[in-house]
Amino acid sequence: MNGIKAIIPAAGFGTRFLPASKAVPKELLPILDKPSIQYIIEEGLASGIKDFIVVTGKNKKPIEDYFDLYPELETILTASKKDHLLDSVSKIIKTANFLYVKQFEQLGLGHAIWTARTAFSHEHVAIFLPDDIFTGAIPGMAQLIKVANQEKCNVIAVQEVAKQEVSRYGIISVRRQFSPNLFQVKDLVEKPAPNKAPSNLAIVGRYVLSSNIFASLENLKFGSGGEIQLTDGIQNLLLSGEKVFAYKIQGQRYDAGTTFGWLKTNLDFALKHPKYSEEIMKYLAKLEKDILFMQGKAEALKNKHKTI
Ligand code: G1P
Repeated sequence: MNGIKAIIPAAGFGTRFLPASKAVPKELLPILDKPSIQYIIEEGLASGIKDFIVVTGKNKKPIEDYFDLYPELETILTASKKDHLLDSVSKIIKTANFLYVKQFEQLGLGHAIWTARTAFSHEHVAIFLPDDIFTGAIPGMAQLIKVANQEKCNVIAVQEVAKQEVSRYGIISVRRQFSPNLFQVKDLVEKPAPNKAPSNLAIVGRYVLSSNIFASLENLKFGSGGEIQLTDGIQNLLLSGEKVFAYKIQGQRYDAGTTFGWLKTNLDFALKHPKYSEEIMKYLAKLEKDILFMQGKAEALKNKHKTI
């Protein structure tokens, strides 16, 4: 594999997080004390990637500001011996290269990826959808890169989802299964109806693709939801004779792209964080008591109505 650069599509309006996302890019909403996009960059760096092309849109300037040096703040924090507060982001700024490409029209994920094409010559493309956060012993993207290197092909991350949820995802059909976690893809379809889905293996936010993906996306028709879909671009790669594998990333996936998913991610991260776990456990135990109390009251009320 000759070099790899990342694309992070971050141009969307983030309507699921309105009104907050009107002024704050959803990629900067925190999971505990760090913006969600920082976890993505950390995964990329830990997977050996240095170059990050962020596709931005309207009101996304704060992302550029976040990954920028802030000498005045650093001076104040150093003077008050709190420089550790900026440590993790300072490290990123010194290690990673950022390039921002603007998507002027919101024509879909496939179009956002295509917008970044001029940053690539022949390098492979590692795509991170920032709504999906992975944790585990080995970084999610590193696992995909390993498979891509071994099999010399495109690799996408998949996960089994409930049948009624398939219409939220790109879904693959399997040509061959090599191991419990590795599949060769036959076809892909974006957001099928549950009765039309070829499987329940859903694409989950990480891709390693050859740079031919840009040509594949070039003349695509509008697909599911009236948008240019990345899934359709990968289907084109298949049709042009390229191999596509699907891999179940080993680790935990968090969907931080909805309000409830974001809340659950925060709770889970807090439970696993040495600084917060004890406090959050106590708090959840108290909540559980409150819930049981409320449920008991509701039950008593129901029984009262039955006897009247
Ligand atoms: C996108 C992709 C879809 C994928 C999903 C989850 O959809 O188009 O194929 O399954 O992300 O990673 P979106 O959630 O942007 O509608």
